[in-house]
Amino acid sequence: MGLVPMKDLVLKAQKGRYAVGAFNCNNMEIVQAIVAAAEAENAPVIIQASQGAIKYAGIEYIAALTKLAASSVKIPVALHLDHGTSFEQCIQCIGNGFTSVMIDGSKLPLGENIALTKRVIEIARILGVSVEGELGKIGGTEDDVSVSEKEALFTDPQDAERFCRETDVDALAVAIGTAHGQYKGIPKLDFERLKEIVQRVSTPIVLHGSSGVPDDAVREAVSFGVAKVNIDTNIREAFTDAARKVVIENPKEIDPRKMLGPAREAAMQVIREKIRVFGSNGKA
Ligand code: G3H
Ligand code: 13P
Ligand code: ZN
Repeated sequence: MGLVPMKDLVLKAQKGRYAVGAFNCNNMEIVQAIVAAAEAENAPVIIQASQGAIKYAGIEYIAALTKLAASSVKIPVALHLDHGTSFEQCIQCIGNGFTSVMIDGSKLPLGENIALTKRVIEIARILGVSVEGELGKIGGTEDDVSVSEKEALFTDPQDAERFCRETDVDALAVAIGTAHGQYKGIPKLDFERLKEIVQRVSTPIVLHGSSGVPDDAVREAVSFGVAKVNIDTNIREAFTDAARKVVIENPKEIDPRKMLGPAREAAMQVIREKIRVFGSNGKA
C-alpha cells in the first residue's frame, strides 16, 4: 500500500477508542522495525521524522525509505513530520511525499500559532496532507522546573477550543504532564485537563513524550480520547542497548550488520509491545 494521510488513521482510532502509534525513525533499520512490527500486529502506523532525524538522514532519504517500506506491506502507513519548525519546512516535506506534517507553533502567542497553523493547513488541504498543531509546551525533562511552573505551560482547554475552531487542524498535541526524553521520576498526567479538552474539542488528541509513561496511564489517556501516541526514546533505548551488548560481548566485531541486526530486532519488539498498549493491534 502507498502512504496514507494521518487524518484517516486517527479519526478511525478516535471512533474505535484506540490510538495509532507514531514512531520516530532515524535510519533504515528503524523504518524496517516500525513497519515489520505494525505488520506483525496488523496495525495502522505512523512513521515520523524529527528535526534530529532530518538533520541526520535528510528529508529525501527518509521519504524514500518510508515509501518503499509502506509499499511492501498491506497495513496503512502514514509519513509525518514531527515538530515542524516553519511553513517552509512543512512545504518541503509535503513536496517530498510526506502525508502529514506537524507545525509546532507552541512557542508563539496563541494568535500567531493559529495564523501559522492555518497557513500550513491552507496548502496541505489542497494536497490531501494532514496537519497536527501544538498548544501548550511539552518540553524536555528538566527536573528543576517546579510543579506550578510546569502547570503554567500545560494546554489551556479554552485556548484549545479556540485553536481547533479557528484552524480546523486534523490533530492536536497537548501538554498534560508528559515530556520528551528519559524521565527522572514517574510522570503524572493531568487527566482532568485532558477530559476538559476532549469535552471542548472533537479533534483527535496527540500525546507526545510517551516513552516512560506507565502503560496504564497511556491506556487511560487513550480511553479519554488520545488517538495518536508518539514514541521515540523507548525505541532509541532498545536499539542502542542491543547494539551495545553486541559490542561489549564481541569487542573485536567489525561487521555493522552484527550490531544493527539485533538492534533492529529489539526495536521491533518494543514497538510491538507499544502497539498492543495503544490497542491498535488488529485495526489495520
Ligand atoms: O520530538 C521529539 C524527538 O524525540 C526529538 O528527537 O533529537 O531526533 O530531534 P531529535
Ligand atoms: P519520547 O522520545 O519521549 O518518546 O517523545 C517522542 C515524541 O513526542 C516525538 O514527538
Ligand atoms: Zn514530540
